[in-house]
Amino acid sequence: MLSEGGPGLDGAFPGEAPLEEWARSTAGRLLADLPRRWAHSKGVGHKAEEVALALEPVDRPVLIAAAWLHDIGYAGAVRASGLHQLDGARYLAGLGVAGRVCGLVAHHSGAASVAALVGLGPQLAEFPDERGPVRDALWYCDLTTSPDGLPVSLRTRIVELCARRGPDDLVVRALADNGAERAGAVRRTESLLLSVHFRQNGEAEHGRPAG
Ligand SMILES: [Fe+2]
Repeated sequence: MLSEGGPGLDGAFPGEAPLEEWARSTAGRLLADLPRRWAHSKGVGHKAEEVALALEPVDRPVLIAAAWLHDIGYAGAVRASGLHQLDGARYLAGLGVAGRVCGLVAHHSGAASVAALVGLGPQLAEFPDERGPVRDALWYCDLTTSPDGLPVSLRTRIVELCARRGPDDLVVRALADNGAERAGAVRRTESLLLSVHFRQNGEAEHGRPAG
């Protein structure tokens, strides 16, 4: 049984623990004072553990670690520029965390559009923005998990976000630029999950790989 984070974890990286385990305990420690943000992060992390099974084995720990860590930029010990994706990525890079994880955290869920609004685009662009199923899957996990960590549809998530933050909020304003990209990431991941589901069902039914 993994720890949910908390006392006794010094946050050293890489340490002895696997990347995903370190990510989970580190996020739990950093977000201990932000219980709702931690509840959301737990929901995203747990969802990523399931979604990762649809990815290539080499990509699974990368997705899971990024999911647990994606919102650490809100933590008091991490917050600096105010753009939580950038602050989280910088913190992780400073610890020597793998570049892919830093890049995924930096660019998650349409960060570039928000960065452009606040003049932090060049700083964010210092982190690689990989495009593909792992990036899509991280956005999917974030965008289909409520602030309390419960599974929701993308539509419900966006409606809630707009109602909670209001029309002048940067994240809400950025939706005009990144809304379609967010929806695309969710749609592609749902398709991937469906295709894996049908393939596995076909194999179970026929006792052989479905062709
Ligand atoms: Fe999030």
